[in-house]
Amino acid sequence: MSVQPPDGAHPQLAVDIVDRLEWVSGLYPGYRRAHAKGACYRAVFLPTGAAAEYTTAAHLQGDPVPATVRFSNFSGNPYIWDRTRSARGLSVAFHLPGGVATDLVSVSQPVFVAATPQAFRNFLEAAEPNMFTGSPDPEVVRKYATEHTEAMRGLRAVKNTPIPVSYATLRYWAVHAFVWLDKMRRRTAVRYRWEPEAGVQQLSDERAAEKAPTYLSDELTERLASTTVAFQLKVQIAEPGDPTDDCTVLWPHDRTEITVGRLLVTGPVEDQAKWDKRMFDPTRLVPGIELSDDPVLRFRSQVYAVSHGRRTQGK
Ligand code: HEM
Repeated sequence: MSVQPPDGAHPQLAVDIVDRLEWVSGLYPGYRRAHAKGACYRAVFLPTGAAAEYTTAAHLQGDPVPATVRFSNFSGNPYIWDRTRSARGLSVAFHLPGGVATDLVSVSQPVFVAATPQAFRNFLEAAEPNMFTGSPDPEVVRKYATEHTEAMRGLRAVKNTPIPVSYATLRYWAVHAFVWLDKMRRRTAVRYRWEPEAGVQQLSDERAAEKAPTYLSDELTERLASTTVAFQLKVQIAEPGDPTDDCTVLWPHDRTEITVGRLLVTGPVEDQAKWDKRMFDPTRLVPGIELSDDPVLRFRSQVYAVSHGRRTQGK
């Protein structure tokens, strides 16, 4: 297992961004500064073997791999109502022999709002709540988005995010490019997507308004009592020239796509408090996978460590 070090460390920027996330969502000691509301579940990943041609990564070869997943809501407010329209998260820790783990962290939108950590900081500054209204100033946000087309694309993606029937009926994207290495160390850039076997199912605004604030976790508990929740892991293979350093831009839809495996979520973990303390880190990789040159991806472990450090100290 390796957590790859970022090539440019930005410790002060990471602290600044976590401070800003606390200001935007409110400060909730002990909780994640983003994706605060969530729960962990037991799962197993069944690789198809289709990835073996491109990567030596142990969890993508052929044998079933035990996994732990966390479904979450984007906000740093752990009491946010589930019926709000926003991104949801699906984080997966694949457990390999010898206590080694590798993580895949995904959200329900295909692109991010910023191509660099500094741009995300500037976006948060524009989205800062006004001290009198408690909400971001729509004019300031609109002006920022007009001047930064990538932020506009990201905001549009949030606006188009379905209010789901279930955490089990959403697509989730890992957003960034990663690099796979085969036995000969040949490199292939890839992007991951989880496709729900139950299909994408969303609620109308009217139906969503009738739902309880915790309907997503309630629904999942009910669903898991009678069935298994399943996702297929689809991987898009880049062609030469496809950008790997910009998580605000999609690759063309006609790129080759392979189905790498199935994730079966079977039930809640027994020790929720223990698992909830865990940090899911998109840079926790295994041999056969490397980080791409995406600066946001390379930065995330730093900012997650600041949030994790604060919340595990009860701050
Ligand atoms: C500079 C960009 C980003 C910042 C500053 C940021 C910030 C954070 C923070 C502070 C946490 C809580 C970490 C913890 O306490 O364990 C978090 C969690 C999370 N982030 Fe990000 N994030 C960024 C980019 C992204 C992107 C591009 C994605 C898309 C996949 C993403 C998806 C998630 C998810 C799903 C979680 C929840 C992880 C879990 O279940 O524990 N984030 N983020």
